[in-house]
Amino acid sequence: MVHRLVTVERHLMDQERLFPEATGEFSSLMSDIAIAGKVVSREVNKAGLVEILGLTGYENVQGESVQKLDEYADQVFVQSLIRSGHICIMATEEREYAVHVPEGFKIGKYALTVDPLDGSSNIDANVSIGTIFGIHRKISPGIDGSEEDYLQPGWKLAAAGYIIYGSSTMMVYTTGNGVHAFTLDPSIGEFLLCNEDVKMPVKGRIYSCNEGNYRFWSEGTKKYIDYLKEMDPASDRPYTARYIGSLVADFHRNLLFGGIFLYPVDKKNPRKPRGKLRLLYEAQPLAMIAVEAGGAAIDGLVDILDIVPEELHQRVPLIIGSKYDVELYRSFIKKYDT
Ligand code: AHG
Ligand code: MN
Ligand code: MN
Repeated sequence: MVHRLVTVERHLMDQERLFPEATGEFSSLMSDIAIAGKVVSREVNKAGLVEILGLTGYENVQGESVQKLDEYADQVFVQSLIRSGHICIMATEEREYAVHVPEGFKIGKYALTVDPLDGSSNIDANVSIGTIFGIHRKISPGIDGSEEDYLQPGWKLAAAGYIIYGSSTMMVYTTGNGVHAFTLDPSIGEFLLCNEDVKMPVKGRIYSCNEGNYRFWSEGTKKYIDYLKEMDPASDRPYTARYIGSLVADFHRNLLFGGIFLYPVDKKNPRKPRGKLRLLYEAQPLAMIAVEAGGAAIDGLVDILDIVPEELHQRVPLIIGSKYDVELYRSFIKKYDT
C-alpha cells in the first residue's frame, strides 16, 4: 500500500538517485511521455463528443484500417517527443519509416518505439485501449539516430512502459529496477503512484487468446489450450478464459492477477507467418515489464528479449504472463511442435 502522494515525475527522480550515472535526460523523456499520455487520455475520454471516433477511411502500413484516434495518438506522441531533445529517432506502428529529429532541434541519446494506440478495434465499443513504448539507448555512431538504435534485442532496453486508457488511466513503467504503476488523477492532472514494485503471480488461472483461431493453431498450442480446460490440479477447476482484444488490457489484468496471454502463429494468416503482434513496440516492451515483474515472455520457444529485430514492423508470436504458465506452454511446443 502506498501512503504518500508520489507523482511519476517524483518517482523517476527518486529512481535516478539509485543510478548515479543516470542523467536528468531520461527522467525528462519519461515525463514527456507521461504528458503525451495525459493528452491522449483526455481525447480518449471524450472521443464520442469530438467526432474522432470511427475510421479515417485509409489503411496504415500494416494494411489495417486506421481509426481517427490511432492517428491522433500517433500525432500527439510524435509531435511532443520528436522535438524533446531527448531522442535520436522514433519508430511508431502508424508510420512505415522511423521519424528523425527535424533540422535545428537537439538530437538526444534515446531511441523510442511506440504503439500509439493499442487495441484500436475496440475504440468505438468504449473498451480499454492503450499506448505501449520502449526506450533503447543510442548506439549508432554520429549525431543522427539510425535503425541500428531501435533494432536492438529487448534485453538491452533502457526502459519500457504502457499507458492504459480504461475506467481510469494508468501508467506502468520499468527501468529494470521494479515495475511501478501510477493512476491519473484528472482533477490535478498527475499520475500518482498506486503500486510499487508490482510482481506477477508465478502461476495464474486465466488464459487469454482469440480461440476463433483455434483450428489454425499448431498441435502444441491446441494441446496446451485443451489441457487448460481440464481440471487444474492446483485449484481443482479449469482455467478461466478472459479475452478483451486489447493487448495492453489483457496484459495489465494478467500482470495484476496472474495468467497467460497468447497470440501464437496461426495458419489463417499466410501473410503473417510470424503471427500478428509486432516485436518492437508491442512484444519487447511488455516482455521487459513481464520479466521484471517475475513473469516470462516467449515466441513459443525463444525468449522475446533475446530476439534481435531485423525490421521495424517485424511480427512475432507472443506468449506472455505468469512464469509457470509460459514455461508449461513452452514444454508443449517442444513436445509436439519440434
Ligand atoms: P493495434 O490496435 O495496435 O493494431 O493492436 C491490436 C492487437 C492487440 O491489441 C490485440 O491483442 C490483438 O490485436 C487482437 O487481435 P484479434 O482481434 O485478431 O484477436
Ligand atoms: Mn497494438
Ligand atoms: Mn496500435
